[in-house]
Amino acid sequence: AMFLDPNYIRDRIRTVPDWPEPGVQFRDITPLLQDPRSFRVLIELFVYRYMNQRLDLVAGIDARGFIVGSVIAHELNLGFVPVRKKGKLPYDTIAEQYALEYGSSTVEMHADAVRPGQRVVLVDDLVATGGTMLAGMKLLQRLGANVVEAAAVIDLPRLRGSKAIRDSGLNLYTVCE
Ligand code: PRP
Ligand code: ADE
Ligand code: MG
Repeated sequence: AMFLDPNYIRDRIRTVPDWPEPGVQFRDITPLLQDPRSFRVLIELFVYRYMNQRLDLVAGIDARGFIVGSVIAHELNLGFVPVRKKGKLPYDTIAEQYALEYGSSTVEMHADAVRPGQRVVLVDDLVATGGTMLAGMKLLQRLGANVVEAAAVIDLPRLRGSKAIRDSGLNLYTVCE
């Protein structure tokens, strides 16, 4: 039971002050991924949550959302579709621009990544301002997906992104704050 405690996950997230710029407390998941027990516990938390949700696909956000999202998809016997940073996908794409805690960016999906009505969970490592997750949600909705939930390892509630996501009507699950 102790392994299912979100503190077990939280204790393995490293905080790096003033990176990549002054004032940002960077929440680094590499120690969590490096430890096989915490990596497995993290994946199991998502797998148990979604195993009876009759999902069709997991969408993961470039880059850290790929690490977690693809493993969740595989464990649930689901396909995985990437939400990628601009300019990386080779086929027909759709795009959404968004603002970050630091800087701005554009994400893209392949136009044929999701069929209308497919039940999709959107996965990333962290919600800060929520811009990335909301951009991914817009891409999925433009493709006609039924976005069952957005999911992340970490919520930074003071940045209000989780509130913005929930206010938009999307379900959001996060493992820890
Ligand atoms: C980080 C993080 C989330 C996003 C959260 O990604 O992995 O995807 O920012 O910020 P937001 O809620 O304010 O949008 P980033 O684009 O910095 O880089 P990555 O390629 O390492 O995932
Ligand atoms: N992405 C946006 N803000 C972040 C933070 N504080 N730590 C890690 N990733 C982030
Ligand atoms: Mg990211």
